[in-house]
Amino acid sequence: MAKFVINGGKKLTGRVKVSGAKNSALKLMAASILATGKTVLENVPQIEDVQTMAQVLRTLGARVELDQEKGAVEIETGGIRSFEAPYQLVRKMRASILVAGPLLSRFGKVKVAVPGGCNIGSRQIDLHLKGFEVMGTESFLEHGYVHARIKNGIGKLSGALIDLDFPSRGATENIMMAACLAKGKTVINNAAKEPEIVDLANFLISMGADIEGAGRDCINIKGTGTLKGASYRVMADSIEAGTFITAGAIWGRDVTVEGALAHNMEIFLTKLKEIGIDIEVSKDKVRVSRGEGPFRSVHVSTLPYPGFPTDLQPIMAVLLATIPGISIITENVFENRFMYVDELNRMGANIKIDGHHAIIRGVESFSGAPVTACDLRAGAALVLAGLKAEGLTEVVDIFHIQRGYECFDEKLSKIGANIMKVD
Ligand code: UD1
Repeated sequence: MAKFVINGGKKLTGRVKVSGAKNSALKLMAASILATGKTVLENVPQIEDVQTMAQVLRTLGARVELDQEKGAVEIETGGIRSFEAPYQLVRKMRASILVAGPLLSRFGKVKVAVPGGCNIGSRQIDLHLKGFEVMGTESFLEHGYVHARIKNGIGKLSGALIDLDFPSRGATENIMMAACLAKGKTVINNAAKEPEIVDLANFLISMGADIEGAGRDCINIKGTGTLKGASYRVMADSIEAGTFITAGAIWGRDVTVEGALAHNMEIFLTKLKEIGIDIEVSKDKVRVSRGEGPFRSVHVSTLPYPGFPTDLQPIMAVLLATIPGISIITENVFENRFMYVDELNRMGANIKIDGHHAIIRGVESFSGAPVTACDLRAGAALVLAGLKAEGLTEVVDIFHIQRGYECFDEKLSKIGANIMKVD
């Protein structure tokens, strides 16, 4: 099993470039199911989750070619003859369920494994299914799979008014894609507003979809007869950018994160400034230094966009664990997203969990230790802790990190970290 071995203490300096957004690329790949002809995506990150989504599409019968060097993916979905997202792929990557909306919209049926819980909490798909139901599908659960099809097996999905109980990203995306080839107009109220939703909408529009309002509470989609494959460049990854910016804030002398889109991460950057981290923002880069302080503890509450992103919560916790005073993190999106805390405490952090709050008392330094990555962002957080720790930190189970970060160790090495991947 591969692991990262980090020799902490070397201050970070230099420039690092952000890759394409995982949480956009995966959805655009799923959306290609809606189109006739060829879809070409650029700036696709070379990560495990992209490989998994390629596998999902191939399982359906699509042709998928990944050009690792160029970071491009070419997809043709004319050969789709299967409508099943199998359990072995869904359990590996929950985003596999995003093929459901496009399959229902274009082919009228889908069989998708119910994802179940994961290391950050229970992750239901009830909102996705409720949306599909209002649009005219019937579904049943059997042997761990949801089988859904258009009522009576004929015709198309129908446009509908859908009020989401919670602005779920996945449900917004699945329903928005389903609505593209439906009859009539769909309105999604209380929609998720993340920049990746806008990226998906822009891609669908480039294929011929009629969508208005993405990025706001209410999205309107008018169904069209067909969509045509298009070429599209995936937006930059704000969570990856936030990870490198935080690395600079924890242990950086002068780090420039190229491709960081500050307007997509305003609350996060505001928090860093409140702490007293030196931040300089320009059009598509953020320059960061830990500086000399004084540093102030802060409180952080995760919320759907434009709130503080839950994906940066474990990463922010590492920074706050180095800031004098008491900081409190409140996790409002996933109920189980503090699994990394025990590992971080083994490195000398002082964090106590009380329900969905983490009470963090800042410490001077961490001490290197063998630790286990329990999920993608938690794994990245432990690596960041290792950069500041005295001595050696070994992070195992790094397959979690490789699911979502392209060349994480290489990029950190480039800005001066002493990190090695050992197989
Ligand atoms: C996406 C991101 C993930 C991020 C999360 C929240 C991808 C591939 N993943 O996940 O990195 O952490 O957004 O920003 O884009 N919920 C329900 N019923 C549903 C759907 C969701 O109860 O049908 C709940 C979930 O259990 C969770 C919350 O809503 O507590 C947020 O989920 P959602 O926004 O759907 O996240 P994902 O799209 O799964």
